[in-house]
Amino acid sequence: MEIVETINEVRERLARARVQGRVGLVPTMGALHAGHASLIEAARRACDTVVVSIFVNPTQFGPNEDFDRYPRDLRADADICERLGVDLVFAPSTREMYPRVNRTWVEVEKLSEPLCGARRPGHFRGVATVCTKLFNIVQPDVAYFGQKDAQQAIIIRRIVADLNLPLEIIVCPIVREPDGLAISSRNQYLDAAQRREATRLYQALSAARRRFADGVRQTEALIATMREVLSQSPALRVEYVEIVDAETLEPVASIERPALVALAVHAGSTRLIDNTILDLNDPTASV
Ligand code: PAF
Repeated sequence: MEIVETINEVRERLARARVQGRVGLVPTMGALHAGHASLIEAARRACDTVVVSIFVNPTQFGPNEDFDRYPRDLRADADICERLGVDLVFAPSTREMYPRVNRTWVEVEKLSEPLCGARRPGHFRGVATVCTKLFNIVQPDVAYFGQKDAQQAIIIRRIVADLNLPLEIIVCPIVREPDGLAISSRNQYLDAAQRREATRLYQALSAARRRFADGVRQTEALIATMREVLSQSPALRVEYVEIVDAETLEPVASIERPALVALAVHAGSTRLIDNTILDLNDPTASV
C-alpha cells in the first residue's frame, strides 16, 4: 500500500491501474471505523484497485463546528487501510486541495436545503465540491458512501447524474454497535453517560418502524412516537425529527412511497444523526 499526498502522485499511480481494471474510491475524513471498513471491503470485493482518500475538508464545517477537534490519526488510519487491502491512500493537505481562495462551488439545489442542510448552512456545498474534486482527481469507476449520511448520499448521486460524471455511486448500509448506535467518528466525543443515552436514536427509529409495520402511515404520528422516545432522556436535545420523500427530500404527510426518516440529536456538544427508510414494499424490515 502506498500513501501519497499530492494530486500528481495520485494521477501517476493510477494511470496504469485505470487501464487494467476497475478503480474504486472510498472518500473519508479519516478516523476510520467499522462503517468505513464496510465501504472499503465492498470496494475491495468489486474493484481491482482501491483508493481511500483521507481529508478533513474545511469547507464543509461551519465556523462553530468541530473542524479543529475532528479526530486526526493518519498512522492508525493507514494501518486499517493496510489491513483491509487498500492499494492507495490519498491524504492531501488543505493547501493541496485548496491552493487558492476557492471561487468554484458545486451547489445542489433543493436537496441541500432541508434536514442537515437547514441547520448547517454551506455544509453540503463543501461536501459536493470536495467530492467532485476527488472524483476528478482519482477518476474512479465507482465510489462508495454510507447510508448513515443519507442526505449526503442522495446529493452525491444527484451530482453524478446532473453533471454526467462517469462513475457509479454505491451506498452501503449503516453499521451499528450491538446496542444499535450508528457507528460514527463523532461517537468518540461522547462520555459514558451520553454514550448510554445515544442508543435512543436507534430506539426511536425502531419504534417508528414498529408502528409503520402495524399499519401507521401518518408521519405526524410516527414523528410523535420518535419524539416521545427521545424525550425520555434529558441528556439529549433534539435538533430535528423528520420524515421526507426518500428521493426528493420533500416532507410527506402520509407514507405512500419510500420515505426517509431522519434524526439529528445533540448529546452535550456532540451532534448525532441517524436514519432509516420506510418502504411499503418492505414494511417489516429492521432499522
Ligand atoms: O462523509 C464524509 O466523511 C465526508 O463528508 C466526505 C464524503 C469524505 C467528504 O468530505
